[in-house]
Amino acid sequence: MKKRLGIISLFVILFIAFITIWNFSYQTGREEAYVPMDGNNAITEIPSEIGVFQRAEFALDYANMPIDENHQRTLKTYYNNRAYHGAPPSIPHPVKEERSMGGNTCLQCHQNGGFAEKFNAYAPVTPHPEMVNCRQCHVPQHTKTLFRGTNFERLQAPQVGVNNALEGSPPVVPHQIQMHENCLSCHAGPSAPKEIRVTHPERINCRQCHVLNNKETTDIGVFKRQSIP
Ligand code: HEC
Ligand code: HEC
Ligand code: HEC
Ligand code: HEC
Repeated sequence: MKKRLGIISLFVILFIAFITIWNFSYQTGREEAYVPMDGNNAITEIPSEIGVFQRAEFALDYANMPIDENHQRTLKTYYNNRAYHGAPPSIPHPVKEERSMGGNTCLQCHQNGGFAEKFNAYAPVTPHPEMVNCRQCHVPQHTKTLFRGTNFERLQAPQVGVNNALEGSPPVVPHQIQMHENCLSCHAGPSAPKEIRVTHPERINCRQCHVLNNKETTDIGVFKRQSIP
């Protein structure tokens, strides 16, 4: 009986000790500063501007990355893979599962990029990893020629290297911002086309210096399909 009482009181003491220590640690945890986010005074982010920081955690890695001269992409191949400036590029490589939407299958290479041995190229980083239904917009190319001629004209892509007011001043952003919020995904790292690979990926607040040029879009009038006889 005495022995049993001893064991019970030992557990009671352990239990009380546990509660005391847990309570102490909980209270000290609460002493740290915190921002009460009750919905009324929450900071609202501007959706089109927050994307600028999406890959900021990799900025220093990009700054220190050596340039792999043998596997650089050029703007020419970049444009060749798009029906027009700003259009979703087609998938230039075989895809694993014909019926998959994409998502993780694609993100294993396109989330953070890196060299893909089997395609002998660096995977371009997707500017929009959150749009997981990749194949809604990106489709493999099955033919290089049109089935029949059309009068569709590609919009001319803006030139690079001519967008600054003075030599040495920051060039204006010659493209739209929608779908282009995540600057570092296209402008930094080994998969960035060499003409637009930024020399200063570590200055993460890109739009602080690079302002938009909204004169890019030209009115093409009413688009009319060629009538089919
Ligand atoms: C709503 C349509 C849409 C969805 C969904 C979508 N994309 Fe895109 N994607 C685009 C468009 C449009 C562009 C072209 C942007 C440009 O070049 O102006 C693009 C560009 C890209 C690029 C080229 C980036 C570069 O540097 O060349 C890659 C890679 C890419 N997408 C991968 C993906 C992956 C992977 C997914 C799925 C996780 C995905 N996309 C989902 C529309 C989409
Ligand atoms: C094994 C890694 C890997 C996987 C998985 C993968 N890709 Fe790629 N992807 C690449 C590489 C590497 C390139 C560059 C090819 C080149 O430059 O020849 C590329 C290029 C692309 C491009 C062209 C980008 C541009 O700017 O021209 C698109 C679009 C694309 N992939 C979409 C997808 C989609 C959608 C999926 C999922 C169904 C996918 N990829 C799965 C490695 C991969
Ligand atoms: C989908 C890929 C993509 C994204 C995302 C993107 N860009 Fe670009 N950027 C390009 C391409 C391609 C060009 C070359 C001109 C063109 O085709 O519009 C370019 C050109 C530029 C230029 C002109 C460079 C020169 O030498 O004249 C600047 C500046 C620029 N981008 C800034 C930005 C900023 C800032 C962001 C983020 C808000 C951004 N870009 C996001 C693809 C991208
Ligand atoms: C402190 C201001 C500042 C910030 C922030 C900044 N840039 Fe620049 N950027 C410049 C200047 C100035 C030039 C022109 C450099 C020259 O002509 O030598 C330039 C040039 C460029 C070019 C043309 C190619 C090159 O590197 O010379 C691109 C593309 C570019 N910036 C993209 C970006 C991106 C993407 C970011 C965000 C990661 C960014 N910039 C952040 C000031 C800035």
